[in-house]
Amino acid sequence: MAEETAGFDWNDRYLLGHAAMDDTHREFVERVDALLRAPDAELEQALAAFADHAVAHFGEEDGWMKGSGFPAADCHIDEHAKVLESVREVQQALAGGNTEVVRGLAQALMDWFPGHADYMDSALALWMVKRSHGGAPLVFRRNSCKSDA
Ligand SMILES: [Fe+2]
Ligand SMILES: [Fe+2]
Repeated sequence: MAEETAGFDWNDRYLLGHAAMDDTHREFVERVDALLRAPDAELEQALAAFADHAVAHFGEEDGWMKGSGFPAADCHIDEHAKVLESVREVQQALAGGNTEVVRGLAQALMDWFPGHADYMDSALALWMVKRSHGGAPLVFRRNSCKSDA
């Protein structure tokens, strides 16, 4: 029931050490939290706010990857694109009156984020930080992009 909807709280274990990315990730958590808590009458607005955030958030990271020759860019960019595609589908479903699918999306985003941040964004954050400090070798913690399917 909507009454017992849990929110999504920021946790410092999400910090990756790249200030701009960390700020964006705090905003991600806030927008998903708002989506989880929004009453039905405000869902469309909360979903639009999340969609705007996601376009900017993923666009920023995609731009960093493309602009810096990041070696694992394809998997990461692809994962962003899949999330955005789902958001667009859910916006269409909501326009047709389906509010439950929005709740499902919010829950899925809350489940998705820690793993994405941990495996994909953390590698990018490390890459960006190393680049700006003179380029030490990178250690990737995940070799495949299939494990979140
Ligand atoms: Fe991110
Ligand atoms: Fe990302």
